[in-house]
Amino acid sequence: TYMVEGGSAKNFARCKRLMFDEPALLPYTKNVVYVKDFQAGEITREKIRLFSLRGKSQSPKVEKIRWDIESAQKSGFPHFMLKEIHEQPTVLKHLVASAKKLDNKLARILKSANKIVVVACGTAYHAGIVGKYAIEHMAKMPVAVDLSSEFRYRSIIIDNKTVVIAISQSGETADTLAAVREAKIKNAKVVSICNVVGSSLTRESDFVLYTHAGPEIGVASTKAYTAQLMVLYLLAINIAKVKGALSGYTISRYQKILANIHNQARLILKKDLPALSRVAERHHNFGSFLFLGRNVNYPSALEGALKLKEISYIPAEGYAAGEMKHGPIALIDEYRAVVCIAVNSAIYEKMISNIQEIKDNKEKIVIIAKEENKHKKV
Ligand code: M6R
Repeated sequence: TYMVEGGSAKNFARCKRLMFDEPALLPYTKNVVYVKDFQAGEITREKIRLFSLRGKSQSPKVEKIRWDIESAQKSGFPHFMLKEIHEQPTVLKHLVASAKKLDNKLARILKSANKIVVVACGTAYHAGIVGKYAIEHMAKMPVAVDLSSEFRYRSIIIDNKTVVIAISQSGETADTLAAVREAKIKNAKVVSICNVVGSSLTRESDFVLYTHAGPEIGVASTKAYTAQLMVLYLLAINIAKVKGALSGYTISRYQKILANIHNQARLILKKDLPALSRVAERHHNFGSFLFLGRNVNYPSALEGALKLKEISYIPAEGYAAGEMKHGPIALIDEYRAVVCIAVNSAIYEKMISNIQEIKDNKEKIVIIAKEENKHKKV
């Protein structure tokens, strides 16, 4: 909830109708007062007043919205989602460049932990799965990932040695907030990864890592997702440092890779968009899609399917490629297109053999691979 200072009552009502989100307020004011749970407020022409539920007057804290009006406009793109897709290289570059030395408070929290549990919903949950793979691989620390809506209603086993990482673009997702409150009751420490400064999640966390992606106005998460991935990889490196799990040489090798990701993202957006448009044109009438991936690209497959459902209203499913033979292969004829993520990695050959399992249906396969593998026969 926001109370607006410096805007007329008429403007405030208009904002309220638009949506209760910061970008909607930007044309009118940058000053906001966040109303906490169990607080009530009153706005008159003269002043803003806040009260506890018992009627005790409380002083309102005026905070500044950091985003500017340009970031909440389409800047020549036909829609926000496309604009936000194109903002990814800049967001990723900025995140790596501004990665500071590990904060002392965060270092203390991480040092005392023996287990991490990630809670999130939707796209943020998919980022959480990538985070699990990265932290376990780099920092050799056990990580569980839970949907916030499951975590909050289950008998979870966590204690003061558990760090709960809550991921949320908005910082206002009810299930994630409830999961965080549950975690705090059990004395776990909460580190959140969030995009919106001052959101409920950031106010309830022990430590916040911001994704600094700017306002995400498109409903389908794009730049916030890749920013979450970058923050998780940077965090994984930091946990590895704190736990002494990697050599200095390996850490700087990973840091170099991360520092170059924005260039690769820029290249994809520059070079591959025509090919992507061709695939979209060829397949847009197809009634159902299957996305397959392994390792960190298993969550990419889940995310690809979610994006297609949300944006194109096409039934789509994401699967760990290695699971195909355990049942879903029976349905393979029903999928009109199968998108296989087969980028170079330690499990590249495994992925290729999964693609070969779909042998009778080659014409429906779309492969996402490195250009150097273009002419390889599958
Ligand atoms: O704001 P949050 O990250 O907590 O939102 C969670 C999900 O609702 C969100 O990630 C949703 O799945 C995406 N917008 C889908 O593109």
